[in-house]
Amino acid sequence: MKILAIESSCDETAAAVIEDGRKIISSVVATQVEEHKLYGGVVPEIASRRHCEAINGVVKEALSQAEMKLSDLDALAVTYAPGLIGALLVGVNFAKGLSMSSGLPLIPVHHLRGHIAANYLAFEELKPPFLCLVVSGGHSHIVEVKDYTDMNVIGKTRDDAAGEAFDKAARTMGMPYPGGIHLDKAAESGDPDSFKLPIPKVSGNKYDFSFSGLKTAVINLIHNASQKGQSLPVADLSASFRKTVVESLLKNFTAAAQELGYEKLVLAGGVSANSLLRKRTEEECAENGWKCYYPPLSLCGDNAAMIGAQAYYEYLAGNTADMKLNAAATMDIAAPKF
Ligand code: KG4
Ligand code: ZN
Repeated sequence: MKILAIESSCDETAAAVIEDGRKIISSVVATQVEEHKLYGGVVPEIASRRHCEAINGVVKEALSQAEMKLSDLDALAVTYAPGLIGALLVGVNFAKGLSMSSGLPLIPVHHLRGHIAANYLAFEELKPPFLCLVVSGGHSHIVEVKDYTDMNVIGKTRDDAAGEAFDKAARTMGMPYPGGIHLDKAAESGDPDSFKLPIPKVSGNKYDFSFSGLKTAVINLIHNASQKGQSLPVADLSASFRKTVVESLLKNFTAAAQELGYEKLVLAGGVSANSLLRKRTEEECAENGWKCYYPPLSLCGDNAAMIGAQAYYEYLAGNTADMKLNAAATMDIAAPKF
């Protein structure tokens, strides 16, 4: 089954053709990051406009790289939630128009389910059930993936997402948007034990996270130093921050795997590109005898290939939409509605 998938939830306009949820036939990503960099973060109104300008060309390019016409496809898929509402609407309306004119079925895909499915494209043998840490710019979830479309969130952030914390700490250290990758690189040459940062604690659900206190601690350290005319060693601070975030994520993720008896651990989302998170997850898995999966770097960030992968399983589960499909800024990964 060949699916043309469209993704426009944030600042990447993307289209891809995917076969049977597992094979990338083509994948095109047009990023707007250079423009948003000027403002230190994504400007939603600009994002929507750029999606409008790019989407036609990006979809055409994905079809042309696949050497296919609309008539060669079996279905269309689109990210409809969660994300920036104006950005999502561009993809959703484009996909609806294409579905109406071609008669192809339309499959709505939850963005975070797509991030999880990025792993299906890289690992032919990977099948649910598994435990997944979904860490992106807007979300930090521990998800029980019981089946391809049957999920249960057992832990999530109470405040900032991990990616958001990385980006805000990086910005305070003078790094360009999106800062996560720059902070990760700077951390490689730093001493992770040079700054004692608060280990985020939450009461109630033991698998929940909190990153806002940690982010504030770094921002305060930098501001206090600059008020005294001092500057802090960026590599050491980056390394300390990265270690604290990664250990906080892994503490809950590995505890959940042990307590719930999972033997396959999977990373997903933009922050799964983090080099320390990948390394430490591998180490924990090796120590506990678990299998470890994370997407190749090319599939960690937003792309449409992952949407096409998840769409295949949504289609098999009967999850198709009609012309009433709307976009939504927020949506439960466990119980998506459309
Ligand atoms: O999944 P994603 O591409 O977009 C959302 O759905 O939010 O995630 C983007 C997030 C950004 O916060 C970005 O800084 C972060 O992923 N990120 C990283 C790294 N690469 C991307 N964070 C830490 N280390 C990285 N290497
Ligand atoms: Zn994403």
